[in-house]
Parts: sequence; structure tokens; C-alpha cells
Amino acid sequence: MSDLSAVLARCQVDVRRVHRWIHEPRSVALARAELRDTLSSWELPGAEDAAVIVLSELMTNAVVHARSSRERVIETTFCRGWGGVRVAVDDADERVPQLREQDAEGGRGLAIVAELSDRWGVHPRLRAGKSVWAIVSVPGGRFL
Ligand SMILES: Nc1ncnc2c1ncn2[C@@H]1O[C@H](COP(=O)(O)OP(=O)(O)O)[C@@H](O)[C@H]1O
Ligand SMILES: [Mg+2]
Repeated sequence: MSDLSAVLARCQVDVRRVHRWIHEPRSVALARAELRDTLSSWELPGAEDAAVIVLSELMTNAVVHARSSRERVIETTFCRGWGGVRVAVDDADERVPQLREQDAEGGRGLAIVAELSDRWGVHPRLRAGKSVWAIVSVPGGRFL
């Protein structure tokens, strides 16, 4: 491997971290801890509080709302941008999240995601299910 391809390979690994989680509630806290570690190693602590809340909401939704067999995992992907992070949570259910009116029982999660992120969205996954993603910038920064 040339020096350049070694550098590129290292960069690719280090700007994108993918984890797979069991479809159960305690995965939410484990994923949160993983994101905190990742953002501190990427020196993006300014994005941490917002990104961790966003991840929590998206992971909780995947655990609570996505119909899935136990063998199907939830996948998280954290991508480092210049001034922020893109967080994606993939699950095996085709149905897409719906922003809904808040009421006593809930409906706040996606409103919080929309508030704390620059952009968020959903796209279908190649085989099954969908990916729900959000971009969180450091204060005064841009994802790029
Ligand atoms: N990963 C998901 N898979 C399927 N449906 C989802 C998912 N995430 C959210 N939804 C739908 O979008 C709605 C709104 O989500 P949210 O704003 O987080 O509110 P809450 O989780 O309190 O219901 C949910 O009630 C659910 O119907
Ligand atoms: Mg929710």
C-alpha cells in the first residue's frame, strides 16, 4: 500500500463510524456513550450535547416504533464533517417517521430533532427499512 493510500484508508475509517445495536431499549444509552467518545476523539465537543439528544430521539424511535424481528439490528452511522457531525439511525421498518402534534403522550421527538439539527431527513435503505439522519453543527460552524 502506498503512503497516500494508507493515509486515505485511515481517514476513511476515522471520519465514519458504523455500529450495530440489538433492537432493545438499553442500546440507546450504549449508542449515546459511543457518540460521546467519537465526538471527543474527533475534537467536536461543541456538537456533543445537541448531537447526543438527536441520537437519543432517533434511537428511541427505532427501538419503540420500528417493527422488527429481534435478529434485525439497528445501525448507527456517525460521519464527521468539517464543522459538525451527521448522525444516521437505520432500522428494518419501511414506515417513515411522521412529525406530529405534540400531546400529553409524546410527539416531541422529531420536533426536538428538527430544532437541534441543521437538516434532517429519511431515505429508504437498499434492502429493507430506512435511514433517518440529521446533521448537527458546532456552534457558529457548518457541517460541510
Ligand atoms: N423509526 C421509526 N419507524 C417508524 N415510525 C416512526 C419512527 N420514528 C418515528 N416514527 C413515527 O413518527 C411519530 C413521531 O415520532 P416522535 O416525534 O419521536 O414522537 P413519539 O416518539 O413521542 O411518538 C411516531 O409516533 C411514529 O409513529
Ligand atoms: Mg420519539
